[in-house]
Amino acid sequence: MNTNTSVTGRWSSRFAYILAATGAAVGLGNIWKFPYIMGENGGGAFVIVYLLCILFIGIPVMMAETFIGKRGRSTPANAAAKVAQESGHTTHWSLLGTSGVLAGFLILSFYVVIAGWALAYVFFAGDGQFSAMALAAGDTGTAHADAVGALFGGLLSDPFKLILCTTLMVVATVLVLGKGLNKGLETAVTALMPALFILLAIVMVYSAIEGNFGEAAAFMFAPDFSKLTIQSVLEALGHAFFTLSLSSGIMMIYGAYLPEGVSIARTSIWIAICDTIVALMAGLAIYPIVFANGMEPNAGPGLLFQTLPIAFGKMPMGDLFGTVFFVMIVFAAFTSAIALLESATAYLVERKGMNRWPAAIVSGLGIWVLSLGSIYSFTGAEWTKMSLFGHGENFFDVIDYLTSKIMMPVAGLFTAIFVGWKVKRHILEQEIVLSSVAFNIFYICLKFIAPVAITIVFAQLIGIITL
Ligand code: PHE
Ligand code: NA
Repeated sequence: MNTNTSVTGRWSSRFAYILAATGAAVGLGNIWKFPYIMGENGGGAFVIVYLLCILFIGIPVMMAETFIGKRGRSTPANAAAKVAQESGHTTHWSLLGTSGVLAGFLILSFYVVIAGWALAYVFFAGDGQFSAMALAAGDTGTAHADAVGALFGGLLSDPFKLILCTTLMVVATVLVLGKGLNKGLETAVTALMPALFILLAIVMVYSAIEGNFGEAAAFMFAPDFSKLTIQSVLEALGHAFFTLSLSSGIMMIYGAYLPEGVSIARTSIWIAICDTIVALMAGLAIYPIVFANGMEPNAGPGLLFQTLPIAFGKMPMGDLFGTVFFVMIVFAAFTSAIALLESATAYLVERKGMNRWPAAIVSGLGIWVLSLGSIYSFTGAEWTKMSLFGHGENFFDVIDYLTSKIMMPVAGLFTAIFVGWKVKRHILEQEIVLSSVAFNIFYICLKFIAPVAITIVFAQLIGIITL
């Protein structure tokens, strides 16, 4: 491993970094996953487990990843190798970075496709199609559901439209990445993140006025400890990693650009808080609409692309607010896509001596090709295997399970072991500047709580121990 290279860019301010990292964190996970798994796993009871995972595992691991990036000042694999070397260990720890970038690519391969669907839906909604379908169906709920189902099915089996939308997303990502860190990434997140927040707030208010807020709040929060199982604990743990974009190379590469003097601890806490707030807001925006229309809550693509369009179609000004909603989703997915592709782009610049533009184009092409596989697996015969409301498994479920329930927690475990046990404490203290009490809390989480908790959850799962 050649550890003689490094990245030179820096975020222009602490705020720019928080916006960018929050942009990376906030994504489809907040919108279609969190509110649902929360409702399914015991509401308020699950939230407590989830918050514990964020607090004692998510934030410390995020700090550890940011530390690796910042200390190594390189792309993920190199940064991990450098940090290992500095403490006298083998450069094979670079695997921590490599596995992250791999997980990131797997996620991005479906992320751009789904962002492309959302883009298509911006046009469907803007075109008045949601209300037109409701009108055409009259009072026949099944006819309406069939029409919306046909709209989604039609999109999924139309390779031209899908490739067009996905290509637009990839091109937009490349355009931002090509312009570089300050002119590209920073400009994009500075515009998009406040916009995302405002759009979400608008939908939330609309939904509180027009929807069934009480039932939504009850579904999401009413604590039911009987629904908490070891599976839900894994769900909470896996989601804590997924939602904070951990173990995907992102925090390492964004950390590599962190200016000196910015607190890794404080920014990480802010990012986690913002991500959690957006997830709660998303639930409070979506479920009142779902329940007001007597529909079933569900997770994944079906919620956004089938359930909600039916609901929007029946509601006053539903086309307008539907458009706002899908624009918001495009923004959320886009700011994560940028982050995911940044480490590949930076790698090509750092290691292959490429310029930013060619590097952005090459990595964009790479993900574009992968996305074709993802598009294909969502269409045609595969589509019949996709039971979004049932138990059938599809490509997307498999990638989702592999990344968020296996790769991410396992990589998180090794990150905690590496930074907690292998990196010399005084080196860590140079980068993570805290009062000694606070540092010790962080250190205990990283050395003991995170590894032990992750190990217990996995051991439970494979049945080695029974609690
Ligand atoms: N954090 C993103 C979300 O919640 C998902 C993601 C994971 C994005 C890893 C990038 C990398 O949707
Ligand atoms: Na998230």
